[in-house]
Formats: sequence, structure tokens, C-alpha cells
Amino acid sequence: MAKRNIVITGGAGFIGSHVVRLFVNKYPEYNIINLDKLTYAGNLDNLKDIENKPNYKFVKMDICDFEPFYRLMQEEKIDGIIHLAAESHVDRSIKDPFTFAKTNVMGTLSLLQAAKLYWESLPEGYEGKRFYHISTDEVYGSLALDSELFREDTPYSPHSPYSASKASSDHFVRAYHDTYGMPTIVTNCSNNYGPYQFPEKLIPLFINNIRQRKPLPVYGKGENVLDWLYVEDHARAIDLIFHRGKIAETYNIGGFNEWKNIDLIKVIIKTVDRILGNPEGHSLSLITYVTDRLGHDARYAIDSTKLQKELGWEPSLQFEEGIEKTVRWYLDNQEWIDNIISGEYQKYYDSMYSNL
Ligand SMILES: NC(=O)c1ccc[n+]([C@@H]2O[C@H](COP(=O)([O-])OP(=O)(O)OC[C@H]3O[C@@H](n4cnc5c(N)ncnc54)[C@H](O)[C@@H]3O)[C@@H](O)[C@H]2O)c1
Repeated sequence: MAKRNIVITGGAGFIGSHVVRLFVNKYPEYNIINLDKLTYAGNLDNLKDIENKPNYKFVKMDICDFEPFYRLMQEEKIDGIIHLAAESHVDRSIKDPFTFAKTNVMGTLSLLQAAKLYWESLPEGYEGKRFYHISTDEVYGSLALDSELFREDTPYSPHSPYSASKASSDHFVRAYHDTYGMPTIVTNCSNNYGPYQFPEKLIPLFINNIRQRKPLPVYGKGENVLDWLYVEDHARAIDLIFHRGKIAETYNIGGFNEWKNIDLIKVIIKTVDRILGNPEGHSLSLITYVTDRLGHDARYAIDSTKLQKELGWEPSLQFEEGIEKTVRWYLDNQEWIDNIISGEYQKYYDSMYSNL
């Protein structure tokens, strides 16, 4: 296997940490650089098991900072970028859209431009290079309950500031291919779940609230439908597509696994209650219906036939197994959540990197 120098942005976040772990363990000959600003969502505790590996390096950097990123590309001779860094929480985007535009749009543009200038300065140009942008199915908008799934050619129709910012960054990535010939790939994935997800997101929030006997806030009537994929299956897809995906293509990633929120919540309640030894139905009374999210999309569901047919990817876990693993992980790793809730996870790393 040829040596590669790869930057993974957002590697201290939920999905990014799984991608970093997979690449560091699977490709000892690669030089893997985890570039992350460590916002509230970045947590190096997610990577404790690989932080001392010789092929891994962490760099604290904001993707919006053009000069330092350009220098990093030169110094490390970067030939691959897997870009996951983003503001990712829809509710936060409704309160603070500017931060989403800055990081998700301008940050992505800054990485693209730095990569363009560096790669175009090399004698071999773009040969052997790759800019792989990780995006979401939310850019496609909202599906009617009885309609087809999102395909790669479904027109974009984002509704939230989060999905609008991701849609915009997807367009910039494609524009860099179409305009300058940069070898880019975009993938749009459904909702991920699994270990190390920041506990503001539905599944870890609910597991933790059940354990603490706190209310489980359900938007509207809980009728919205999401399509769920185990995070390690997403990371495997990213590995496959980074190495074998076709330049300038888009691939949808999803496990054909749609759940109405309220039904998903009942599965979580059942699983947590069983593992904690509570009687069946014990935590159903914690369900609390709250005012619906503004502009809440009715349904997301992804058609990943292209990825399955062209590259042979398929999800490895059934949903029941994935939920069981996930619930057990959060219940067994209480300290990880407690450190987040108390803010400890940031204090330690803030002091460590304050001079950089
Ligand atoms: N979570 C999902 O279900 C899902 C589904 C499809 C696509 N995605 C996409 O996958 C990517 C990762 O999502 P996630 O859920 O792991 O997000 P996350 O919020 O858990 O992690 C985001 C990471 O990006 C870092 N970051 C944020 N702003 C930065 C900046 N300006 N410079 C450098 N680093 C910065 C954060 O510190 C954090 O480590 C995002 O691009 C998201 O849009 C997520």
C-alpha cells in the first residue's frame, strides 16, 4: 500500500473520531492528521485508544484559517483531505445561523482554495490527490411519507440553516471539480448513531435522560421519520469511497432503516429499561411532547443502491444489534458523558493547547 498523507477534519467529533480510528488502525503506513478546532462538539477523549500511535497526529486548527492550513498542506505534503468538520446540530443552526455559514460554507471554501493552490503548485498537479467532502441527506429537503427515497439526482431543497449551509458547501466542492478539475467526491449520509455522539443529539440524550429519570422531549407528535445508520458502517463507507469512489461522483450512504421518532424512542426505552433491570414500560412516562422544531422536515430517507451496486458496500449491523451496542456503550461509559456535562473534557484540552 502506498504511503499517503491525509488530513481528516473534524476528527475529534462523533463521526470523525470513528473515521480517524479506522484509518489509523487499518493503514499503519499512512500519516493521519486529525485537524479540529475543538469546539464544544470536539472531544479528544473520543480517541484515547489511538492517540499514541506513530501514524497519528492531532492539530488544533480552525478550518476557516487559510494560511495555517495552506502551510500544513505544504509541510505534511497532504495528498488527501477527508472533510467532516462542521457545525452539525440543527437546533443550534436555528438560533445561530451565522456560525453555520462561517464554518460550513466559508471553512469548506477555505480548505478547497488552500488545496487548489498547493496541489496546482506541484509538478504532478492533481494526480493522486483527493478532496472528499462528507455531507448529509438533509440537503435534499423533506419527503412525503409515501414518496420515493432520496437518490443522488434528487434536487437539493434544504430547509434549515444547517442543511442550507451543508448544501452550499456541497455546491462549492462540486464547483472546484467543474471549474478547476480538482478531484473531489461528495457523499450524503443519513442520520448516524453509535458511541461518542455528543449528548445533545437524540439517541445519547434519551439514553442518558432515562438513566437520570429526566423527561424525554419529543418534538410535535413524534411523527417525523429519520433513516438511521450505525456510525461504524458510515466510517467503512467513507474508507471504501475515499479509496475506490469515482472522482466527481456523489454517493448516498444509508441503511434503508426508517423510523418514526416516537417508535425509535420506544425501542430505546425498552432497551435501556431491560438492561437496567427496570420493569417493561417503566420509562414510558418520561416521554414529554414539546412544541415542534421550526421548519421540521417530515421525513428523510436515503436510497444507497448506487453505493451498494458500484462499490459493494452494505451495512454490517441490523438496527436491533446497533441499538443494543449503543445503549450498552453509553451506560458503560458514564464518565465520558459526565465529563461532557461538567465541561471537564474541554478544560483539560484547553489548557493543553492554549499555547498553540
Ligand atoms: N451526525 C450525523 O448523523 C450526520 C449525518 C450525515 C452527515 N453528517 C456530517 O458529518 C460531519 C460530522 O458530523 P458529526 O455528527 O460527527 O459532527 P460533530 O458535531 O460531532 O463533530 C464536528 C467536529 O468538527 C469540529 N469543528 C467544528 N467547527 C470547526 C472548525 N471551524 N474548524 C475545525 N474543526 C471544527 C468540532 O470540534 C467537532 O470535532 C459533518 O460534516 C456533518 O454535517 C453528520
